[in-house]
Amino acid sequence: MRASYSHQSIENLKAEIDIVEVISNAIQLKKTGANYKACCPFHGEKTPSFVVSPDKQIFKCFGCGVSGDAIEFVKKYYNLDFIEAIEKIAKDKGFTLEKTAYDDSKDVYYKANKDAARYFVRSLLSRHNEAMHYLTDVRKMDIDIITKFGIGYADEKWDSLYNHMAALGYDEKTLSELGLISVNKGRKYDRFRNRVIFPIISTNGRVIGFGGRTLDNQGAKYINSPENPIFHKSNNLFSLNFAREYLRNSDFLIVVEGYMDAIGLYQCGIKNVVATLGTALTENHGKILKRYSKKIVLSYDSDDAGRNAAYKGVDVLRDAGVSVSVLHVDDGKDPDEYVKTHGKEEFLNLVSNAVSGTDYQLRHIARDYDLTTGDGKIGYVKSLSAIFEKLSPVEREVYAQKVGRSLDLDYKNILFQIGNQGKTEASKRIEKTVETGDRNLSTTEKVLFKIFFMDGSYFVKFKEHEFSDGVITTEMGREIFSLIENEISASDGFLDENRIKDAMNPEEGYKIDEIISGVPIVDVESSFVDCMSSARLAELGAKERRILDIIALADEEEEGQEAERLQIKLMKIQKEIKKLRGGVDL
Ligand code: UTP
Ligand code: MN
Repeated sequence: MRASYSHQSIENLKAEIDIVEVISNAIQLKKTGANYKACCPFHGEKTPSFVVSPDKQIFKCFGCGVSGDAIEFVKKYYNLDFIEAIEKIAKDKGFTLEKTAYDDSKDVYYKANKDAARYFVRSLLSRHNEAMHYLTDVRKMDIDIITKFGIGYADEKWDSLYNHMAALGYDEKTLSELGLISVNKGRKYDRFRNRVIFPIISTNGRVIGFGGRTLDNQGAKYINSPENPIFHKSNNLFSLNFAREYLRNSDFLIVVEGYMDAIGLYQCGIKNVVATLGTALTENHGKILKRYSKKIVLSYDSDDAGRNAAYKGVDVLRDAGVSVSVLHVDDGKDPDEYVKTHGKEEFLNLVSNAVSGTDYQLRHIARDYDLTTGDGKIGYVKSLSAIFEKLSPVEREVYAQKVGRSLDLDYKNILFQIGNQGKTEASKRIEKTVETGDRNLSTTEKVLFKIFFMDGSYFVKFKEHEFSDGVITTEMGREIFSLIENEISASDGFLDENRIKDAMNPEEGYKIDEIISGVPIVDVESSFVDCMSSARLAELGAKERRILDIIALADEEEEGQEAERLQIKLMKIQKEIKKLRGGVDL
């Protein structure tokens, strides 16, 4: 198993690393003045333009542009990841990295699960049994798919697995924490009995848990491993270990509810599919999915539970910032059944016809109303605020128009109705974060917001500046800024500070009053110019420092061209800084 090291120990190692020593282990360095030089190992060259600075502990090649610290060098040179790189550096130095106690203690869990998984697989394959009959005859699963997914069988006896694991030396505590056995009044018995076993495998290939499907309808349809040190349902997805291999070839990822659905689609050649582990989609799932694909297609069961889960899933994924659409299987109870009857192409057709998450939500709510009646329309529109508050201003307008067309109503009235209901999502977000972090605004932010309140047209001017990003630097500032942005786009450039206050957490609304009454501005235009100048100055200062660092490494004679380019850049920056300083009179 891969080791994990304590943060402190890694920091200690970093403090001891000498970049010259590390790089010298790989290539020959020649001292030139304060620095060292060599022919760059990362691109072919005859005259050395690879410079190492012991002072700054960085390297830089003026030929191909690579740069970084000692760890970065080792990663690149030996083709290692971060952990492997620090392991190598530590080994070369004779430095002992401290493993984290926590992670070491997990080894036994992983090992136990692996041994259990092997046992289940052997049980399934070794003799004729009900599970094999169910999988192959009833569910039409191919044997190579069964093997690929490591599907197994927990037989009907009360202690088969326990005896096996005890013989391998696992203790009762480990086994019961993993949910492989239950202990009742000192009696130990297998938790999975007469069930098909689906191992849940993490993206780095370890068995982290199991789902067991009943074969005899005794107890719950599925029993899953409980939460334990290595199994967290809300952080993992079934079949992601397989799906990730196929994401290079497809621009979307399908999320289904059931293990059987994921396996069924996979067997039909639709391999970019994952299933949740018997829980609703969580914020963490959102983050994970986003890492693997920007486009998620939800394909849930066609019953009410499935529809409701899809509705909520859309919210979660939209919050995570992925584009989400929803596919509806119109024949059969779930994707597995559908694809078994209609095949891959038909299912992919459904994927192409999947509706956007928002469309899905609008239709879902519409099911509760009779839209042929006036009351039905009114009730429907009133209930839409939950959806609309999550949308951006432009999306709101687009979807309000859609709803308007379908109900034969003016979309402005729909927006108005919705706008008057409930809090906006932005204000809820503020509430959520209110206890955390620094809630103070920077002086520049205060001045800038005051300017916007005095004259909303400055907001547009501000947005036109390419370096405006660096001006809003605090969490509070970003929140108020986005409220202002929404307000301005929703009301044609007009900015009413009271509406901003209303949208904020009541306990923080006073900050707006403080800006209004506490920030003196005599001349809006010149205050704005000052604001933008100091933002630009901050940005230029950072750029200047970066270039100075690199120039310090360059040998003017040898790195002629690149050094000259940097000098010119630096000159321009310093000129602009000087000009701005003069202008702002700092
Ligand atoms: P399903 O009942 O749809 O299961 O529940 P399935 O895997 O699609 O199996 P078939 O095709 O109906 O036979 C969907 C998922 O919900 C979880 C499991 O993860 C299951 O795969 N679940 C379901 C539970 O955790 N416990 C249960 O009792 C039922
Ligand atoms: Mn199902």
